Amino acid sequence: MKNNAPRPLVLSVLLAALGAAGAHAAEMPRIVEKDGRHALLVDGAPYLILGGQAHNSSNYPAALAKVWAALEDAHANTLEIPVAWEQVEPKEGSFDFSYVDTLVAEARKHDKRLVLLWFGTWKNTGAAYTPEWVKFDNARFPRMIDKDGKTSYCLSPFGDATLAADRKAFVALMEHIKRIDGDRKTVIMVQVENEVGTYGVARDYGKRAAAAFAQPVPAAVLAHQKPPAGRPARGSWREVYGDYADQYFHSWAIARYIEEIARAGRAVYDLPMFVNNALRDPLKDPAPPWNKDFASGGPTHDVLGIYRAAAPHIDFAGPDIYMPESKKVDAILRQFQTRGNPLMVPEMGNGASYARYVYQIVGKGAIGVAPFGIDYAAYSNYPLGAQATDRRMVEPFARIYGAFAPLQRQWARWAFEGRTYGVAEGDDRAAQAVEMTGWKATLTFREFQFGEREYLKDKSEYAPGTEQPSGGVAIAQVGPDEFVLVGQQIRVKFAGSGANAGKPSMFARVEEGRFDADGKWVMERNWNGDQTDYGLNLPATPTVLKVRLGTY
Ligand code: DGJ
Repeated sequence: MKNNAPRPLVLSVLLAALGAAGAHAAEMPRIVEKDGRHALLVDGAPYLILGGQAHNSSNYPAALAKVWAALEDAHANTLEIPVAWEQVEPKEGSFDFSYVDTLVAEARKHDKRLVLLWFGTWKNTGAAYTPEWVKFDNARFPRMIDKDGKTSYCLSPFGDATLAADRKAFVALMEHIKRIDGDRKTVIMVQVENEVGTYGVARDYGKRAAAAFAQPVPAAVLAHQKPPAGRPARGSWREVYGDYADQYFHSWAIARYIEEIARAGRAVYDLPMFVNNALRDPLKDPAPPWNKDFASGGPTHDVLGIYRAAAPHIDFAGPDIYMPESKKVDAILRQFQTRGNPLMVPEMGNGASYARYVYQIVGKGAIGVAPFGIDYAAYSNYPLGAQATDRRMVEPFARIYGAFAPLQRQWARWAFEGRTYGVAEGDDRAAQAVEMTGWKATLTFREFQFGEREYLKDKSEYAPGTEQPSGGVAIAQVGPDEFVLVGQQIRVKFAGSGANAGKPSMFARVEEGRFDADGKWVMERNWNGDQTDYGLNLPATPTVLKVRLGTY
């Protein structure tokens, strides 16, 4: 923020409108970095993915109607959906991209962008989405060997033929996307494989893997992944990384494999690419050595350095958040938003309790978020997600996406400029604070909209509708004393801090309104009196405020 003095709102809006204009439609989507912050550029301007992910088996033309219906209801701008190796190359060497053609055509009709998920060698670590000619040919496409010499369920990252075949199919897919979409850029990003790694086995113990394990750790890995305290700076994997060696080696082996696929794909059509992962316990930090407690080899937060070293054609690793606890979500977002790793949440539970995290994720400057199962197929992945498979499931996200939708381009620009902050109500319901430039916001929850807690006879009385945590706010500091707030079920109080510390202050103006389709602010009413005397009490329905403060 300091090096980046806030610009007046009107100028930012103007720049956003210019950037969002079709003039740059031919530009490749790409991820850019500035001062440690990231943006996904689509049509040449920052883009915020307000996404939804379809169910695993919705990757067929007949299933798409129920996906679009849910996406529309959710006010989402982007669909994440699988393209499976088994469906595009059912017979070796003969490709069928008819589903991709339908998908892209329908996405355009629905005015949605696409993030394609390549389900290849690994899908939730297993080989289920490889074609049948791969699945059952262990001689040509070897599986990993465990410590006792038994064949594991997972394909080996040392299978040269597997890599060559997966890469060939992926390259064919990228060539096809370039052919049908190179002029429009409906597809904006590609996930390479899905939740890679291995459950129950730390690494491949097969012959080729064993030989590689005995080799010195590559210099690039050493540069990005520090050895545990007291261990040598170079040597074999075991020598350098001790008890972490097996997991680190497996991460390197898989990352290298993914790199080959991503590099070849980008050589034909250079879309941003990423990996997702099934998380390990985020609260065990520093992370102890693997102990059968998560999928070894996936891009968990503790091995992001290895992925960076071994897979430079992968832009980031994204966390799949299926842990509803707010402390864990806090930790996950911190762990996956690093200088070299843009924050993007490619999957999150679609249960109502996750919706408030959209404020936190978007406010932290993520390039996007996508709850999983935004799809009206008659399938619920409860207890990971919602039980309902209809509008009730989409509703909590729809209300929030609806508030952000008209300003998503502007928001993405503010985020890239480092002006945004995000908070979600914690499970402890405790007050939180956000330090901005010259101002501090205090956020409290379960308040009545009028008056202070001490006015209540019964101090344990709470506002109806706040039985479960659902509050959140995203704040953009758009000028030195000017803010845009999007939030729900929260009380926001401002006080001077930094250069304004100790100065008395008051609201100059608190406008409730919305941004129109062109990014122009439309004021609906001015909050004053009861509506500002006890802080800004945002109701259960997501509300957008433009706030100006002053000191005297
Ligand atoms: C995470 C995976 O990446 C998804 O494909 C899906 O299997 C969900 N888990 C659970 O429904």
